[in-house]
Amino acid sequence: MEIHSGIPIFKGTYSDAASREKTEMLARELIPWRKGPFQLEDLYIDAEWRSDKKWNRLKKDLPPFQGKLVADVGCNNGYYLFPIAHEGAKKVHGFDPTFKYMLQYELVRSHAPKLPIEFTCEGWEALYRYPQTFDVIFLMGLNYHAPNPLEIFHACKNSLKAGGLFVCEGVVVNTQANLEIFPRGKYAGIGGVYAIPSPTMLSMQLASVGFKKIHQQHLVKMETAEQRSTIFSPQPSLANFLNEDGSSTEGYPPLYRAAYFATKEE
Ligand SMILES: C[S@@+](CC[C@H](N)C(=O)[O-])C[C@H]1O[C@@H](n2cnc3c(N)ncnc32)[C@H](O)[C@@H]1O
Repeated sequence: MEIHSGIPIFKGTYSDAASREKTEMLARELIPWRKGPFQLEDLYIDAEWRSDKKWNRLKKDLPPFQGKLVADVGCNNGYYLFPIAHEGAKKVHGFDPTFKYMLQYELVRSHAPKLPIEFTCEGWEALYRYPQTFDVIFLMGLNYHAPNPLEIFHACKNSLKAGGLFVCEGVVVNTQANLEIFPRGKYAGIGGVYAIPSPTMLSMQLASVGFKKIHQQHLVKMETAEQRSTIFSPQPSLANFLNEDGSSTEGYPPLYRAAYFATKEE
């Protein structure tokens, strides 16, 4: 496996035409691919999300992973597990309770079975079995889907070693105010949302859980080049849920995403 500009590339050649066809058939059966892209030999799985863009935003400020134990909580099909393993992590553990995403992961993983990756088909609740275990925990795209994000932040903190790094990324309302909004129904087509915090609110939530050295690593407006319909994810996407002024078709503010880095005290 190689990583080119954040994209996992699995090289080699299929032993025969039948296995090439089988991989493509399985990939199509597992539609929609929300996170990607993946290059599986000559098969390019273009997902709804250009997850490489988020990885490239984060990567420049991440510490070296050599010899580290890393977790990605809510890892979807494990997209980020591959660049993290490639960076030399001793082990990277992905948690996601959605069985279909685990099957996507298994299909990709079958192209590089020796990587130090473990995928557990369970949610963040499983973290309580891993006290003070990880050097780095990623929690991305999950807090605003949860009725009680602080409980998840506590679980992550409990699973970090002292001095460990917490990377918390998600949708935010781009205002200086300390607030959160509670969309009724969907927000820019995203279902299952509870509270969308402002950056200040998210930062204060992390502080209230006891994280230290909290700082905003990036804040970006979501572009349709990063989230769009593709052959492997054909359902409506961001462009279908934005008005011309950038507000969402449900009447909510433009969609921004922020990443916060925070540390568990030594
Ligand atoms: C918006 S996606 C974010 C995926 C990925 N972390 C990213 O940033 O691209 C939310 C993910 O959380 C997963 N999920 C749902 N409930 C969860 C839970 N209780 N614990 C952990 N993950 C969960 C979903 O299956 C989905 O893959």
